[in-house]
Amino acid sequence: MSSISLQARNVTKSFTSGPIHNTVLHNLTLDMHAGELTLISGPSGCGKSTLLAILSGLQRPDAGQVFALGQDLGELNSHALERFRLQHTGFVFQGFNLFPALNALEQVELPLSYLGLAPGEARRRAMASLEEVGLGPRMGLRPSELSGGEKQRVAIARALAKEPGLLFADEPTSALDAANGQIIIDILHRIARTHGTTVLCVSHDPRLVGHADRVLAMEDGRILSDRVPSPTSTPTSGLEEPSA
Ligand SMILES: Nc1ncnc2c1ncn2[C@@H]1O[C@H](COP(=O)(O)OP(=O)(O)OP(=O)(O)O)[C@@H](O)[C@H]1O
Ligand SMILES: [Mg+2]
Repeated sequence: MSSISLQARNVTKSFTSGPIHNTVLHNLTLDMHAGELTLISGPSGCGKSTLLAILSGLQRPDAGQVFALGQDLGELNSHALERFRLQHTGFVFQGFNLFPALNALEQVELPLSYLGLAPGEARRRAMASLEEVGLGPRMGLRPSELSGGEKQRVAIARALAKEPGLLFADEPTSALDAANGQIIIDILHRIARTHGTTVLCVSHDPRLVGHADRVLAMEDGRILSDRVPSPTSTPTSGLEEPSA
């Protein structure tokens, strides 16, 4: 069994707006393992994005603890937490969040400069990450020249190039068709296995379930089930060109 890399211990989170007090996460305890892709599914509003935000240190819980790569995030002040997130976490979103004016290589290189990497090393890592997601030949293209699936692969390369221990993806396939969605989930799965990354992915899409190592079903801020899915047909390499 791989090592535990991310833990939530009795995490509770509420939001208050006016007279309404909404408890979004109820005393949630969870262990995640390095080298695994964990998929979180559940209805809209059940707390999936809030859970991701808390596990990644973007938000703080009201009560409970998060241990990420052995670090108790509650012990870090906001500056140290920011530093931790920069160094150890990568994020992929539904909407890609790419800069229109930059080509794929520049999108991936840019955050590496914040990590203090020398330009040569940043370029080497950026190119290797783009190769890894199958975009080597397209690294000179801007977002307007890329398909949706390719844009998401640029966003994954951008997260991967930081070599993060923890990779979070919030609905990364929602804007894509089924074929591209499966390519994306298979790339995320392969990153978990080959780099030992802990990958946490939120998705509504039931077709992705068989591509994960573990599936957590959430409802009303609680984990209802925690299971290992039966695998789908032969996993793809994730690098095939979509037919459309
Ligand atoms: N900053 C906030 N202030 C107030 N309420 C919030 C805030 N963030 C989230 N919520 C509330 O918390 C609940 C859970 O939100 P969350 O975004 O975690 O759901 P989700 O499961 O990701 O939903 P979706 O599938 O629609 O993305 C919702 O009722 C939402 O309105
Ligand atoms: Mg959400």
